[in-house]
Amino acid sequence: MFFRSIRFSLTLWYAVTLAVILVLFSSFIFLILRNQLTKDFDRELLTVAEAVASPTLEPFRRAGPSVFDQVLEDFIGTRLSGKYVQVMDGSGRVTASSKSVEELRIPYGSSASRRAAEGKVTYETKVNLGLYPVRTITYPMMDGGRLAQVVQVGTSLKGVAETLEKVILVFAVSIPLSLLLWSVGGWFLAGRALKPVDLITRSARKITAENLSHRLEVANPQDEIGRLAQTFNDTLERLENAFTRVRRFSADVSHELRTPLTILRGETEVGLRWAREPDEFRELFRSNLEEINRMSQIIEALLELSRAEEGGLRLELAELDLDGHLAELVQQSRLIEPEKGLRITFTAHEPVAIRGDWLRLRQVFMNLLDNAVKYTSAGGEVSVVLDSCNGYARVMVVDSGSGIPSDDLSHIFERFYRVDKARNRADGGCGLGLSLARLFTEAHGGRIEVVSEVGKGSVFTVYLPLHTSA
Ligand SMILES: Nc1ncnc2c1ncn2[C@@H]1O[C@H](COP(=O)(O)OP(=O)(O)O)[C@@H](O)[C@H]1O
Ligand SMILES: [Mg+2]
Repeated sequence: MFFRSIRFSLTLWYAVTLAVILVLFSSFIFLILRNQLTKDFDRELLTVAEAVASPTLEPFRRAGPSVFDQVLEDFIGTRLSGKYVQVMDGSGRVTASSKSVEELRIPYGSSASRRAAEGKVTYETKVNLGLYPVRTITYPMMDGGRLAQVVQVGTSLKGVAETLEKVILVFAVSIPLSLLLWSVGGWFLAGRALKPVDLITRSARKITAENLSHRLEVANPQDEIGRLAQTFNDTLERLENAFTRVRRFSADVSHELRTPLTILRGETEVGLRWAREPDEFRELFRSNLEEINRMSQIIEALLELSRAEEGGLRLELAELDLDGHLAELVQQSRLIEPEKGLRITFTAHEPVAIRGDWLRLRQVFMNLLDNAVKYTSAGGEVSVVLDSCNGYARVMVVDSGSGIPSDDLSHIFERFYRVDKARNRADGGCGLGLSLARLFTEAHGGRIEVVSEVGKGSVFTVYLPLHTSA
C-alpha cells in the first residue's frame, strides 16, 4: 500500500532524477577541474623541458649529478622545485639527472620513445610510481632528423590529487545529503499536493445512491484537483437528476394510472353485479373505454416525454407556412367545447415560414388551444396572433380565462402539474400537455413563455426559429 502510493513514487522519482543530475553534474565538474589542473602542470613541464634542452646547457647535459643540479638551479630557478629531470641519449641511456631522480626513476616507455623518435613531445600520467601520480613530459631533441637526446621532466601530482580528493570528498558528502534533504522535502511537497485527493476520497466515500445530494468540497476550483472535484460534482448532479427523474417518473405513473384503474375496477364490478340489459352493458363498456383511452393517452404522452428527454426525439423537418397551418388548427379548435360559445380568432400579421415537424408543432399548439378553451369560461375569448420577431416566428395564444396564480406559474411546465387537481380530472387533462409543448418547442430550437394574471387570462407565447432560405 505504502510503496504503491503516488506520494512514495513521486518522492522516489524526485530522488532518482536528482541523483542522476547530481552525479552527472559532479562528474562533469570533476573532469573539467582535473583537466584544467593537469594542463597547468603540462605548461610548466614544457617550459622546464625547453629550458633544459636549450643549446646553452649542452655541455652540462652530460655532467655529473651535483653539477647538473647546480646548473639547473642557476638556470631554471624556482620553477625547478618538485621536479625530476633526466636527460638521455638517443638510445635511451641516461646521461644526466637531477638528484631528486634518485628517489624516482622516470620510466621511458615504448610509446613515448617511439613518439620521441618521430620528434613528438609526449605527456603521460604515471600512477604507480610513488604515493601520488606523476606527470611526465618526454621531450625529444633532434639533430638532422635523428633523435639526439631526450629530456624527461616529471612532477608529482600531489597537489592535484589532493585537490581532487577533496572535491570527491565534498561530493561524497553533499550528494547523499542533498538527496536526503530533497527526498524529505519531496515527501512533504507530495503530501501537500495530494492532501486534497485524500479529502476527496474521504468525502466521496460518503456518497451512495441514497445520498446523491452530497457534494465534494472544492477548495480551489482553478487547480487540477479542484477541476477534478468539480467534474465529479457535475457528474453527481446529472446522476442525481436522473435518479430523481426515474423516481418521480415511477411515482407519477403509478399515481396517475391508479385513479382510472380504480374507477375501471369499481364500475366493472358494479356492472357485473347489477347490469342485466344490453343497454346497461353498453353504458358500462362506454364508460370503461373512456378510462382506457385516458390511460393510453397518459402512457403515450409519458413515452413521448421519456423518448424526448433521452434525446431520441426524431423530427421530420419540412418547410411549413405557419399561417396556413395555424388557421386550420384554430378552425378545428372551435370544435373542442362548442357549447361554451367562445369567440376564437386567428390573426396572421404576415406570412411566416419555418422549418419544423408539423405533427409535433400541431401538438404544441393544440395543447395550448385546448388549455385556453378549457380554462376559459363561457362567453370568453381566445385569440391566436402570429408575427415574427428577431429571427423568430412568434405565436401568441391569448385567453380571457381564469389565469394562473404566480406561485404555480413556474411549475405548470412540469409533468403532471395541475393548478386545480380536482377540477382537471373532470376535464380529462392529465398535466402532461405543457411538458410536451415545451419539449417539442425546444426540440425545434425555440422556447415557450407564459404571462398570466388571475381573473384576467393568460398569454402563452411560442418562439420558433424562422426559416431563412439560403
Ligand atoms: N390557458 C390557461 N389558463 C389557465 N390555466 C392554465 C392554462 N394553461 C394551463 N393552465 C394550468 O396549467 C396546468 C398544466 O397544463 P397542462 O400541462 O396542459 O395540463 P392539463 O391541461 O392536462 O391539466 C393546468 O392544469 C392548468 O392549471
Ligand atoms: Mg392541457
